Amino acid sequence: MPIIRDEAKRKEIVDLLTTAYWMEIETVQNYIANSVNLDGVRAEEIKKSLAADVTEELGHAQQFAQRVKTLYGKVPGSRDFKPSQPFLQPPADTTDVAAVIKGVIQAEQGAIDHYMKIIKVTAEADPVTADMVTTILADEEGHMRMFEGFLKEYEKK
Ligand SMILES: [Fe+2]
Ligand SMILES: [Fe+2]
Repeated sequence: MPIIRDEAKRKEIVDLLTTAYWMEIETVQNYIANSVNLDGVRAEEIKKSLAADVTEELGHAQQFAQRVKTLYGKVPGSRDFKPSQPFLQPPADTTDVAAVIKGVIQAEQGAIDHYMKIIKVTAEADPVTADMVTTILADEEGHMRMFEGFLKEYEKK
């Protein structure tokens, strides 16, 4: 007996969760790179913050993967990966901390938008997914708010 009886709905949810999984994986890649590449005194706090977020985003990826499995989906391998964060590539100028902060804000906003959509789609059909994604959404809102604060300081100087 399937967990979600409406097969089209189940497939829609698995696809949304798979997209979320890839978003988290790509965020991990770019947060690692940016947490290492940046140079300068002003970069240190940003690097520390990004390095800490890597662990959280990886945890999110694992939760999305587990939910895909529970809903009878299959977690894809790297061959299916398609990048979608041109805005979060390490800047040519390794002291351009503001560019990284803006990229992080865009990535977090993208995650927030996608997770809001998942919550909307699953609210009635799949409350367990809605609940899980609501908790993850709270993390992303915290990340975004923090980086908006960093940007405020950077634009003042
Ligand atoms: Fe995340
Ligand atoms: Fe995040």
